[in-house]
Amino acid sequence: MEDITAVPTSWSVQFVAALVFLYVLLKVFKRVRYTGGKRPPGPPSLPLIGHFHHLLFGLPHHSLAKIAEKYGPIVWLELGALNVVVVTSSDVAREVLKTQDHIFASRPPGIMVDMVFKKAQDLIWSPFNDHYRLARKMFTTELLSQKRMDSFQDLRRQMTFRTLRTAFEEGHTNRYINFPDLVENQFLSLTTQMLFRMDGHAQNNVLLEIIHDLVSTGWFVIEEFFPLLKPLDLSGQGRRLKNIGERYFELMDSIIDNRLKENSNSKSNTEEDLLDVLLATSTFSRVQVKLLLLDIILAGAETSSDTIVWGISQLLRHPNILERLQSELDDVIGTERLVEEADLNNLEYLQAVVKETLRLHPVVALGVPHYSTEATKVAGYDIPANTRVMLNLYAIGRDPKVWENPLKFDPSRFLNSPVDVRGHHYEILPFGAGRRKCPGMNLGLVSVAYNLAQLVHASAHRRRRTHGRKPSEVRALLLTSLAKPPPEVSAPEA
Ligand code: HEM
Repeated sequence: MEDITAVPTSWSVQFVAALVFLYVLLKVFKRVRYTGGKRPPGPPSLPLIGHFHHLLFGLPHHSLAKIAEKYGPIVWLELGALNVVVVTSSDVAREVLKTQDHIFASRPPGIMVDMVFKKAQDLIWSPFNDHYRLARKMFTTELLSQKRMDSFQDLRRQMTFRTLRTAFEEGHTNRYINFPDLVENQFLSLTTQMLFRMDGHAQNNVLLEIIHDLVSTGWFVIEEFFPLLKPLDLSGQGRRLKNIGERYFELMDSIIDNRLKENSNSKSNTEEDLLDVLLATSTFSRVQVKLLLLDIILAGAETSSDTIVWGISQLLRHPNILERLQSELDDVIGTERLVEEADLNNLEYLQAVVKETLRLHPVVALGVPHYSTEATKVAGYDIPANTRVMLNLYAIGRDPKVWENPLKFDPSRFLNSPVDVRGHHYEILPFGAGRRKCPGMNLGLVSVAYNLAQLVHASAHRRRRTHGRKPSEVRALLLTSLAKPPPEVSAPEA
């Protein structure tokens, strides 16, 4: 009898073969159409999802670092319908952020950018256009200028003391402290105070809730990669982002209305905050003012607090390094007073600890995506216009071709070394480089160095002074030392 399974089997083999042939044809066609030349190498991809399966497990910067080990410092990925280039070496980063910065200084569009940032009317997500230039100038010359940062020095000091006080009080009663939460709250409160003097206000808590919701919803909306699915919003992320955007705008409207009312009252005599600065200019619409403020909250708070948490964890894991830092602080500051921001430039080892922390733990591990505005060549490969470019800052800082013993936490590698973290040395780029370099870098560096120094110095000092004393005496001592007014100094160029 004829084998009835034979026919369908051969059909299905032919069918699958035809599909594979069509797929290969499509890939070849796509390659020629998109780049008109040689694309960077990349791992095997699957139909429809492209390379997504390579990023399903683990942290994306870890998976991308592994891919780069195999395929080299510039890799081409297709994530659904989007083309992404991933850069993983200082040489290629220099080409993107310096030699061809004018081509890569834009940002990609996206669902989150549309829903929350009203089609990129902020700074972080703005394409490289006239609005961007105005907003960037506002950040560098006004909102984050050295003068403005100096004016918030006392606030930074008070906020750090608040954290120290809580940590010491809780620690003294042997209660568990959630240090990351403590520092994160410190920086969120500091930021909202700089923006609109709102500490302890009920609106502050509502704002913090909105920010938490936004961060936990995630920047990358899955439908972005599969545009046909966009209207269906299967992930629900679109709806959530829309709702978060509306809540944020409603809250900010009431804050701004109150402020305008207060400002029209001639008796109001409070210090200028960043909302006042933005309202005083007619350059930006109300929507833009709200979004520029949102940028500062999102980019400024968790970046500094996460870096401090990494720094402290590394110091706790390396008692010899902690001890060396303590002795530098004792030598330079002594035991009779607390560290001030003006001391930071005299603390060479502390600066090395900060750099080493940022080398191993750049908290924006994949940077913020860049976007090519015209077709070009990078490292000999053709990159089409409208390609997203991600820089794996995490893997660049750990590149064994550049760094000796790259995984070792060793601040002394930065002693007597010209290498810094400010975007001039492409082997370590925690703040990016070029036109899009982080405008909050000085503030971030001062905040991280000051908090690490204060925590390490004050805790060593406290151990010495409180040895054998009663809890009530410890509390009195602590409160007296923290209540001392700061000396009249201005923040240094860190
Ligand atoms: C340790 C602290 C910080 C780190 C590690 C950090 C890192 C970064 C990185 C990697 C970028 C992307 C650069 C690029 O696109 O190539 C960035 C952008 C940005 N950062 Fe920071 N940042 C920190 C603190 C701050 C602070 C304190 C602020 C403001 C208060 C801030 C505001 C911004 C803004 C507005 C951008 C977007 C700039 C643009 O698109 O032109 N950052 N930051």
